[in-house]
Amino acid sequence: MASVLRAAAGFLYLLLVAADPALLPVASAVPFIVLHGIGDQCGNSGIASFTEMLGEWSGSKGYCIEIGKGSWDSWLMPLQEQADTVCKKVKKMKELRKGYNIVGLSQGNLIGRAVIEYCDGAPPIKNFISIGGPHAGTASVPLCGSGIVCILIDALLKLEIYSNYVQAHLAPSGYLKIPTDMADYLKGCKFLPKLNNEIPSERNATYKERFSSLDNLVLIMDHLVMYYIMSRALNP
Ligand SMILES: *[C@@H]1O[C@H](CO)[C@@H](O)[C@H](O)[C@H]1NC(C)=O
Repeated sequence: MASVLRAAAGFLYLLLVAADPALLPVASAVPFIVLHGIGDQCGNSGIASFTEMLGEWSGSKGYCIEIGKGSWDSWLMPLQEQADTVCKKVKKMKELRKGYNIVGLSQGNLIGRAVIEYCDGAPPIKNFISIGGPHAGTASVPLCGSGIVCILIDALLKLEIYSNYVQAHLAPSGYLKIPTDMADYLKGCKFLPKLNNEIPSERNATYKERFSSLDNLVLIMDHLVMYYIMSRALNP
């Protein structure tokens, strides 16, 4: 399994370099942050070695940014709050002042995009590399497992997912898009419709402008990497 992550890190490095070879010396000096997926935390060995490896191979400094209590909060803290936390953290990091890249894994990509679109006065984001990001939403919540948190999550899922209560207590409900229930999604889902400028009366050109001003956007759909990350997250 470690070889899968090694391959992923190598692949990302190639992408960063291939994006613009002329910029290589500059690009390789740009630090990056990693935003982990649901159920994971920066202290887990999978994501820690992923960050380290990517840093070694690209020659840039990498930082896994933790939100609150890690794995718990990745499930239970609304995504807007998670994004606000990252926004505050990146503003405080002197290392990022001249600009940085974001590498997102699964749910972490939505946090990354919210930082790009909403974080006023933050250091400039150069490149955004998204691995397995549910940018258009997901029709089902990721499998949680059997721990105590999962019992709570299962209970939440039995409630009305677009209700204020679930929206405020279950992070993935912020990007749960049930294709047969678009009206309720647009009305009740607190996070993704705004992020994607999906509600005509609430569209904000600044979000689009900020997202379009990235140097490079790399979107990777990779089930193998996702499988690895999820399995590490569930069985650290
Ligand atoms: C759009 O978003 C920007 C950045 O958050 C904000 O400053 C601005 O007030 C928003 N505009 C409207 C019309 O809501």
